[in-house]
Amino acid sequence: MAVRDIVKDGEPLLRKKSRPVENFDAKLHILLDDMLETMIAANGVGIAAPQVGILRQAVICELEVEGQEEGEIFEMINPVIIAKKGKQVGPEGCLSVPGKRCDVLRPETITVTYQDRFGEKKERVLSGFNAVVASHEIDHLSGILFYDKEVKVPKKK
Ligand code: CO
Repeated sequence: MAVRDIVKDGEPLLRKKSRPVENFDAKLHILLDDMLETMIAANGVGIAAPQVGILRQAVICELEVEGQEEGEIFEMINPVIIAKKGKQVGPEGCLSVPGKRCDVLRPETITVTYQDRFGEKKERVLSGFNAVVASHEIDHLSGILFYDKEVKVPKKK
């Protein structure tokens, strides 16, 4: 495995649409392993393939697991959000946009279909923090960055 360079905001590649993964081969597995190592090295909780310069629909999220300190590493290939429920607003940041954080509006719960690294089709429901991370990473595959969805929350007095 190897840590790859993270593409930073301002580079046009980050704004491009990623293409579907068609080959679930060793090359994909190396990409996913490198993405994970890069995410861990950068202290992130999610990473999308375009962030390491590869315009393919692959993301990794570190999901929160209730009652457990260790997160769950969750890979999604060709993910599609097929249902959204509820709303939540909270602060986000991004490995490609160092130093910036802002409040973003996200669904409370999403249902996502995806393939695993072997091409097997799956479906999963994610809520709360996990829905935020997954939505953020899936947005990268359409060239969308979190601050595009910034919401100004009025400060409570
Ligand atoms: Co990001």
